[in-house]
Amino acid sequence: MPQPDAGLETHLVATRDARLDSYKALLRIPSVSALPRHAADCRRAADWLVALATEAGLEHAEVVETGGHPIAYADWLHAPGAPTVLVYGHYDVQPVDPLDLWTSPPFEPVVVGERMLARGSADDKGQVHAHLMAAGALLATRGRLPINLKYIFEGEEESGSVNLDSWLTAERDRLAADVAVISDTGFFAGNLPAITLSLRGIMFAEIDVVGTAVDLHSGMYGGTVQNPAHALAQVIAALKGPDGRIRIPGFYDDVVPLSDADRAALAALPFDEAEYQAMLGLPALVGEVGFSTLERRGVRPTLDVNGLWGGFTDEGSKTIIPAHAHAKVSCRLVADQHPDRVFDALKAYVEEITPPGVTITVRNLGGGLPSLTPSDHPVALAAARALEATFGRAPVYIREGGSIPVSASLDSILGLPVVLLGFAPPDSNAHAPNEWMDLGNYETSIRTIARLWDELADLPG
Ligand code: BES
Ligand code: MN
Ligand code: MN
Repeated sequence: MPQPDAGLETHLVATRDARLDSYKALLRIPSVSALPRHAADCRRAADWLVALATEAGLEHAEVVETGGHPIAYADWLHAPGAPTVLVYGHYDVQPVDPLDLWTSPPFEPVVVGERMLARGSADDKGQVHAHLMAAGALLATRGRLPINLKYIFEGEEESGSVNLDSWLTAERDRLAADVAVISDTGFFAGNLPAITLSLRGIMFAEIDVVGTAVDLHSGMYGGTVQNPAHALAQVIAALKGPDGRIRIPGFYDDVVPLSDADRAALAALPFDEAEYQAMLGLPALVGEVGFSTLERRGVRPTLDVNGLWGGFTDEGSKTIIPAHAHAKVSCRLVADQHPDRVFDALKAYVEEITPPGVTITVRNLGGGLPSLTPSDHPVALAAARALEATFGRAPVYIREGGSIPVSASLDSILGLPVVLLGFAPPDSNAHAPNEWMDLGNYETSIRTIARLWDELADLPG
């Protein structure tokens, strides 16, 4: 078992201010992958990470083209006989709107108390940065790393990782490893260290309903034609029952039932439902009957309307029958659901239930597969020991409702078991205004990562 490394700790304490400056510099780059006007910023973030990796002492650091926003790659491969770990994180971030709800500008990072406040501070630049800081500190103090490491930092995670699978397939040889560690998840309620055992998949779709070529006078034509907004409302209302069950025929066919052990493990987590409700400020929680709140948010599939528009929405009134109406709908998926099969089922059902008098189209906007990770893999066990040694608490094992499409791809394309070792606080405001990272988590995560690599040095490569 590795002992705490006093030299490493002294180095980390001495370099803290410089490290925070470097973390802030990364956060200042507005690498919003979804918005074409930030394409150059995404590339700048990739360049910046390559420079940081080089400075840390990693090798073969380069910006790699994928056809979309590039990947920043680096490695260090001088530990013969020791395992090789592929580390994944993403440097792209979500859009920042609504801007007026931020207490300080999203790309001007500020430290407030123990928090680093900026877009991407937690999801996922802080975790990417911590990995490079851990490698840099080990190389600076020992001149070597205990294991072999390959790093890929993606630039399109927040916009669906559309170019990643073909890149992973093409680069299979260069990316060969024993295991993957993804740091893009978080701690559990109360900021308890956590290892995530599963992620949900996702399917996105757009529904467009079209009636006439232009809006109609609702007095002259009302009562004789179908209203596209009303037709869309009827379709959406029919997607889910009052019992919270999704009504798309076949939707649940591929869902692998929860084992009694999985249900017991979730039920044993320290979760306060009343506190969760109060945190959200809601009069009630709702969801699929027969499942607990933690089950519904982590291991059951869902369907949500993400956006709904059409017709007149300005101030005052306007008596029209809108020409068209639209909705964005997405489903979170669990094993063994497949986004394309779920899309086909959604489309068939929507077409069947659409009322007469309008044209409806359902478009597939993409998706990602759910993933399940092994809790008893030696690297997962070592990660748990490293978390306990550095945070002073054994981790809880959680099921995450969010999605990281690369997790399933690392398994299916590269054949790698995945360990989801993330450090974001559970209430980090990821994707929302005032995203923040707990600086205690950030600092300690560097020790956890270094400790994990030490733990793995003795495993066979
Ligand atoms: N880091 C998140 C995934 C996540 C969410 C982990 C919640 C832990 C808790 C990731 O960056 C993300 O936001 N993923 C998107 C995926 C989508 C854009 C394909 C998501 O879950 O919406
Ligand atoms: Mn993320
Ligand atoms: Mn995200």
